[in-house]
Amino acid sequence: MRREDIAVPLRPYLVPVDGRPNLLAMTAPPTPRRLPVGQSGDRGLLIEANAALARLDEAMQQWPAPDLVTRTLARREAVQSSQIEGTRTDLDQLLVYEATLGLDGLPPDVVVTERYVQALQLGLDAVREHGRSAITLDLVNQLHALLMQDMADEFPKGAYRQEQAVIGPLGSRPEDARFVPSPPGRIDEAMRELEQSMFQYTAAEDEQFELNVLAQIAIAHAQFETIHPYKDGNGRTGRLLMPLILAAEGHPPLYLSGALLRSKDMYYDALNQVQIKGNWVPWMNMVSRSVIEATHDAISIAADMQQLQAGWAETVKGYRSDSVARRLPALLIGHPVVTASQVAALLDVSERSALTGIYALEKEGILEQGNERNWGRTYHAKAVLQRLNQLPALPVRRPR
Ligand SMILES: Nc1ncnc2c1ncn2[C@@H]1O[C@H](COP(=O)(O)OP(=O)(O)OP(=O)(O)O)[C@@H](O)[C@H]1O
Ligand SMILES: [Mg+2]
Repeated sequence: MRREDIAVPLRPYLVPVDGRPNLLAMTAPPTPRRLPVGQSGDRGLLIEANAALARLDEAMQQWPAPDLVTRTLARREAVQSSQIEGTRTDLDQLLVYEATLGLDGLPPDVVVTERYVQALQLGLDAVREHGRSAITLDLVNQLHALLMQDMADEFPKGAYRQEQAVIGPLGSRPEDARFVPSPPGRIDEAMRELEQSMFQYTAAEDEQFELNVLAQIAIAHAQFETIHPYKDGNGRTGRLLMPLILAAEGHPPLYLSGALLRSKDMYYDALNQVQIKGNWVPWMNMVSRSVIEATHDAISIAADMQQLQAGWAETVKGYRSDSVARRLPALLIGHPVVTASQVAALLDVSERSALTGIYALEKEGILEQGNERNWGRTYHAKAVLQRLNQLPALPVRRPR
């Protein structure tokens, strides 16, 4: 990051770094309350993304078991957001870990992925109860502390970094870094400003228009990443902000990490364009495209889950109506990997009845036994897992 790379209007935010004579850092400019003219990206895309979000709101009202669908979507988000950071855990492994709480045969970073599930849940619970006012710096620090709790003792969890950070590319000299964010002494102030302007956003009286919620999530994430308040875990903590703001505004939490992960270089470049050029267009377009893709994907998954369930209901209709074999299939879309004790708890039956039901569903081809592990046998609804692991089909582009 050199002075000449920075757009002229942003140069006043450049500051020297103590003890590193050749290095310039950039304090975060104030959070934009609206995007400058010509900076909201492709208008058509933004309109389409808003329409897609409205379609999801509506579709979700029709889902017979929305919590079961969003339960697996949240886990997929945890996997994909963590994979941007470089974890190798996949969805099946995360679900096996959750079912057995044993690491046996799983990649050790499954624990890191599970922390993301917990952080997402903590955040969603908070915004569902208190709405937008729950999105405070305290909450964000809590999310970070939860995400990073397995790091070494000396790693600051839920606390800002004490040293200068430099952002990629890996192995480069600090002077060649893509971006050099705020010196540590300026983080606190920048974060308070972000909390005021965007986490707790309400349109001020003198503002003619309310900022569109998709622009809000785009600005919140980009500004957070520009401040880069923590030593590590900034990407994951900052990506959590997007579903949380959506949920606080009464939308279903929409999960964008899969789309970002598939275009990781573009994601980084788009953030960098905001940071050094003040150009929001690539990032806004990326958010719009990701929203369109994620919405389409969620709706299509929910539809496929309903279809699976309907098929299974047909398959097990010969079993007694209060039997596990009859009752369990409906739950498998939210719990595609189960153990006998989990089934017993979910349906409030004995473990023996749970197993009888599981065997019946194995016979019917609905469940399959997972690999033998030390921590208990798992049974997998392969059809559900397969569908969740499928890449999203590209939404059909309507001519405009
Ligand atoms: N110019 C930039 N180029 C690339 N990434 C950037 C840039 N500015 C901010 N970032 C953010 O920094 C994140 C990486 O920071 P950090 O390693 O602290 O987060 P993480 O959660 O551990 O990792 P990851 O985001 O890779 O999961 C990126 O995901 C991105 O969101
Ligand atoms: Mg990291």
